[in-house]
Amino acid sequence: MRKPFVAGNWKMNTDSRTGVELAEKIVSATQQIAGRTVDVALCPPFVYLQSVVGALSSSSIAVGAQDIYIETKGAFTGEISASMLKDIGCIYVLCGHSERRHVIGEPDELVGKKVTAAISGGLLPILCVGELLAEREADQTIEVVTRQIKTGLAGLGAEKLSAVTLAYEPVWAIGTGLTATPQQAQDVHSFIRELLGRMYDNRLAEQIRILYGGSAKPGNAADLMSQQDIDGLLVGGASLKADDFVAIIQAAVKE
Ligand code: PGA
Repeated sequence: MRKPFVAGNWKMNTDSRTGVELAEKIVSATQQIAGRTVDVALCPPFVYLQSVVGALSSSSIAVGAQDIYIETKGAFTGEISASMLKDIGCIYVLCGHSERRHVIGEPDELVGKKVTAAISGGLLPILCVGELLAEREADQTIEVVTRQIKTGLAGLGAEKLSAVTLAYEPVWAIGTGLTATPQQAQDVHSFIRELLGRMYDNRLAEQIRILYGGSAKPGNAADLMSQQDIDGLLVGGASLKADDFVAIIQAAVKE
């Protein structure tokens, strides 16, 4: 049975005070369940990672970074390596979030190298995939997700796949208030699991957690989580409000 996993992606929000306060509120409200019946991670901006690691130190909530660079060290101005993130206590890292792909312009191949670099550096990558609205309307969802997963996991041997979490985030649902219906999400999630089964093997595919992201909120979290292949949620906007995020974490616990 896959343990549910809820990750909060703070994007470029919070400051040094509000980030720590948010983390502390989440810790105190989830003490009984975080790390036990549900895994939880917070992904603050780079500059606040260390203070959030501190705020979470006595909890079972993990910290994740929102991005990573593919090299280990050297002349790469502005970039941050896996070993640096691990050094300050990060466990997870988002790779290929849709804003990195579509706002910053990261190509699929770079995302794949980031997944590999994360694992080599001892981090657990959360590989994000998802189609644009125009791609969904043109019936290209499966094609886009297949390409992003195949390139995102390129060169990754079966022995390393268990380090990876997948996140299906339809771009048209991110930050828009539009959520994929539980059935729409389930259809893509089950396709992703089947694809992983074909690329690796079914036993391994059954173990991989696939999160849904895109306007997840307290009001839709339980419905989404009731789907067989939805193993957790990657939450943007609602992760910035402690009460909402805690309600989502509680809703993610599968009895
Ligand atoms: P949202 O963002 O919950 O604000 O839609 C999700 C994400 O980008 O991971």
